[in-house]
Parts: sequence; C-alpha cells; structure tokens
Amino acid sequence: MAPRKIIIDTDPGQDDAVAILLALASPEEINVLGVTAVAGNVPLPLTQKNARIVCELAGKPDTLVFAGCDAPLVRKLVTAEHVHGKTGLDGPQMADPTMPLQDQHAVDYIIETLRGHDAGTVTLCPLGPLTNIATAFNKAPDIIEKVQEIVLMGGAYFQVGNITPAAEFNIYVDPEAAKIVFDSGVPIVVMPLDVTHKALTTRARVNAFRAMGTKVGDMVAAWTNFFERFDKEKYGSEGAPLHDPCVIAYLIQPELFIGRHVNVEIETSSELTLGMTVADWWRVTDRAPNAMFMGGLDANGFFALLADRLARL
Ligand code: BDR
Ligand code: CA
Repeated sequence: MAPRKIIIDTDPGQDDAVAILLALASPEEINVLGVTAVAGNVPLPLTQKNARIVCELAGKPDTLVFAGCDAPLVRKLVTAEHVHGKTGLDGPQMADPTMPLQDQHAVDYIIETLRGHDAGTVTLCPLGPLTNIATAFNKAPDIIEKVQEIVLMGGAYFQVGNITPAAEFNIYVDPEAAKIVFDSGVPIVVMPLDVTHKALTTRARVNAFRAMGTKVGDMVAAWTNFFERFDKEKYGSEGAPLHDPCVIAYLIQPELFIGRHVNVEIETSSELTLGMTVADWWRVTDRAPNAMFMGGLDANGFFALLADRLARL
C-alpha cells in the first residue's frame, strides 16, 4: 500500500518533536508532505524554528516547513513554557537550523495541498492548537470535504484537564478553532489525555532510547528527562506522557488504540470550563457522533514501535 500522505500541524514541544521524528522514520507507512507550525507551547518564531531543528535532527532537511498563525482566532495566546522550557525544546542546547523556512503561509500551503490532491488522500495531523486548520477551513471551505481524516492530539474525558481543571492545553488555547474543526464533518480521530496519560515514559523506556547509541536516541532521552520533571511533580507518575507521538503511532499501528465513536462538543463560552471537550462517552444524548475518541492504549506496543522506528534515524 502506498504510504499515507499527511500534513503535521505542530507547536514543538518535546513531545511534538518525538512525533515528527516517528513520522519521518516511517516512510513505508507515512509520507510527510509538509510540516506546518502554529503558535502554542511557545510563540510561532520558536515553533517554526523548532520544527526545522527536528527535521534536521532526523536527517531530513528537505522536509517542507511552513509558519502559520501566530495567535488563536479570537483570544490571546496562552503558552506552556512551564512544561517545555523557554525555547519549547529545552534540554540539551541545539544549534540553530540551517534548512529554510518556506515562504508560503502554512494556511495557504494546507489549502493548496488539499486542492492539489484527490479528495480523501491527505490526512491532517494536528499536534497543537487548531488555529491553522480552522483558518484554512474558514478561508477555503471547499477543502473540508477533501480531507481524508483528521487525527489529532487534544481534549480529555476521564482525565478532564491539564491546563485548567476542565480543559486540555491544545483545545483550551484555541477553543473557537477546535469548535470549527469538530463541527466540520471531517472524520476525526482524537488522542485525548485519557490515552496519552497511558503513554508514560519509565526509566526502562528512556534507557532504551539512550541505548540506541545515536544522536536521535540521546536527544529523545534528554528531552524526555526534561519534560518529565513537570509531570512527575504534578501527577506523581513515574514518567511523562508522550502525548503527540500517539497521533503518528495510530497511523502506523491503529490496533494499539481503542476508543468509541461518539459526539464531542467544545465549550467556548463558560469561563470555568472553557475548552472542555464534552465527549458523550456514555452515549446519553442523541447528538450525532463526530469523532473516534480514543481511551485505551497498548503502552508496551507503543514504546516498542517508537524504539524500533527512532533507531532507524
Ligand atoms: C498537548 O499540549 C502540549 O503541551 C503538548 O505538546 C501536547 O500537544 C498536551 O496537552
Ligand atoms: Ca503539541
């Protein structure tokens, strides 16, 4: 089967970085058409730069990287330096990238790419706030029906929230954009905190990255160590959740995940629960299902896949 064509929309972020590496390490299954950066974990000048750093680390400097929206649709940007550090990719110091940033705006690239491909042949993989995707849908509604699927990291049901008691970061930062995406009618697969909090690094798993004896293995181990300190303190867990790689792992090995096809609505007005993903997990309404909302993960299988693929870079 031909590799699946995807656009990765991202705000790196150490876990975004691992997701990009996983995709670039898996050319048999995944064809990364482009990487579009959005403001999220850190402001846009850093996320677009970090995306290029990661592509270079993967040995793929010919990857097309675009800068997109620098702020949510209607709100002020909220960032997460408290998790990812000042650069968004804190850990070992990394050199500035030398590969170019594309001139085209990420939103125009998304529109042009979808218009230039047959309907149902390009998948969008958002790993950050949904601003770029919603802006593209607003600007060019004709592309909506051309999207094969959206596989995204965001939201939560049982785990509720991480940036507020009620909301997960990616959805909270731009809830209006999330609403546009969830209301779009495109088939959606969601990797919420309910899944990603099961993708926990442990000593043994981090050691396996380091044991690769490669630059990528060392870097992933170091990033994970940095990223872990926050979650260990917050949740008392053994390690950190590798949120965003779940999206790419799903494209390669969907059987690692289980979930339910349910209705998911986004809260956009309540101050208290802004950005909440109201998932009808128990199917107590007659609202039509609009998303495959994942809940379970084979964590050992997930980390085995990661180790196998990252070792190829
Ligand atoms: C999400 O927020 C970001 O900090 C991570 O990169 C991930 O995409 C988890 O809530
Ligand atoms: Ca992210």
